[in-house]
Amino acid sequence: MKSSIWFLAVTVLFCLCLRGKGQLRADYYASSCPNLSKVVWREVFKALQNEMRMGASLLRLHFHDCFVNGCDGSILLDGSDSEKFAPPNLNSARGFEVIDTIKAAVENECNGIVSCADIVAISARDSVLLSGGRPWTVLLGRRDGLVSNQTGAANGLPSPFDSLDVIISKFAAVGLSTTDVVTLSGAHTIGRARCALFNNRLFNFSGTGAADPTLDSSLASQLQSLCPQNGDGNVTTPLDQSSIDFFDNHYFNNLINNKGVLSSDQTLFSGDAATTTSTRTLVQIYGSNSGLFFSQFGSSMVKMGNISPLTGNAGEVRKNCRVVNSS
Ligand code: HEM
Ligand SMILES: *[C@@H]1O[C@H](CO)[C@@H](O)[C@H](O)[C@H]1NC(C)=O
Ligand SMILES: *[C@@H]1O[C@H](CO)[C@@H](O)[C@H](O)[C@H]1NC(C)=O
Ligand SMILES: *[C@@H]1O[C@H](CO)[C@@H](O)[C@H](O)[C@H]1NC(C)=O
Ligand SMILES: *[C@@H]1O[C@H](CO)[C@@H](O)[C@H](O)[C@H]1NC(C)=O
Repeated sequence: MKSSIWFLAVTVLFCLCLRGKGQLRADYYASSCPNLSKVVWREVFKALQNEMRMGASLLRLHFHDCFVNGCDGSILLDGSDSEKFAPPNLNSARGFEVIDTIKAAVENECNGIVSCADIVAISARDSVLLSGGRPWTVLLGRRDGLVSNQTGAANGLPSPFDSLDVIISKFAAVGLSTTDVVTLSGAHTIGRARCALFNNRLFNFSGTGAADPTLDSSLASQLQSLCPQNGDGNVTTPLDQSSIDFFDNHYFNNLINNKGVLSSDQTLFSGDAATTTSTRTLVQIYGSNSGLFFSQFGSSMVKMGNISPLTGNAGEVRKNCRVVNSS
């Protein structure tokens, strides 16, 4: 009897410690910043009111943060070593000023309590919700990292020119599955892509003298006039031409109709690698079942948000998302 009480007490203490230290949880700021979610929601709402695309940009920031040194706000740091200058982010990642505005509003509400990494995670969820998607519970308690890892960003983030196998291995390197690749690629139901990232598909694809055969011919000619050879590579087009700025499952139906904009999108359905068999099936399932896509997207976002978080006394809670506190 006595020993079982001791066993219980030790177990409870152990669990409390684990909870306090290693893991993210939904109610992390419940007493230290009870109005956090309201403040972030209000600021994201304002940002999207000003520019609907910002929802896509904030969602992508969380992804690009998490894949490099974990979800630690490292993408937000300025400086010559910044991840902002790595190829996947240069002239591409956006929303930094909006994060500054949200951070200022949060600091005003609860000074020095909430990490930048958590603000990015909540903003991503609110962006999806305000764009027409379904909510998920964001786990919190991440601390901010002390370094921005430019080579990590250059090597770890997937490129639209990567093969499906390479993309799958980059996701696997951070603990995400092939299912997560397909599910999270559904984020491309909102946002824009620049000509430079898909114009290799338009004129002389792989030296064939013609457009990519897995690109619908009417979309190909539309994109050819938007992105002429030797034109401005920064011109953008919606990733989901059928419902711009609206978070739905049309992305998957686009792929089924050869209307994926990026090569890395279309390959989930049309690739010839053995791995495509499983991704193609999932594309078809999500294309006909938006409810399943929405719920799986939430689960995969929680999983992505859990990539190597700094917790406990690791890292810090940055005062200014652009610089570490000591500097
Ligand atoms: C599977 C591998 C992925 C590749 C190769 C990829 C690649 C890209 C590229 C090339 C762009 C356009 C960038 C530009 O025009 O400068 C883009 C945009 C975007 N990506 Fe991805 N992406 C991937 C996965 C993801 C994931 C996992 C998410 C989020 C969960 C995401 C969210 C977005 C969003 C929302 C945009 C539009 C951003 C905006 O309009 O500002 N992507 N992606
Ligand atoms: C939270 O916001 C409400 C108003 O929306 C305010 O009345 C309340 O004092 C705030 N709580 C804290 C702890 O700041
Ligand atoms: C940067 O990321 C790479 C993984 O690509 C990792 O091996 C390296 O330790 C990271 N560097 C720092 C300073 O965090
Ligand atoms: C297409 O690319 C191939 C190889 O890069 C080249 O030999 C060929 O001349 C190009 N064709 C056209 C029409 O530009
Ligand atoms: C996009 O614009 C930036 C400057 O805003 C320029 O440095 C860069 O070369 C452009 N990229 C492409 C692909 O045209």
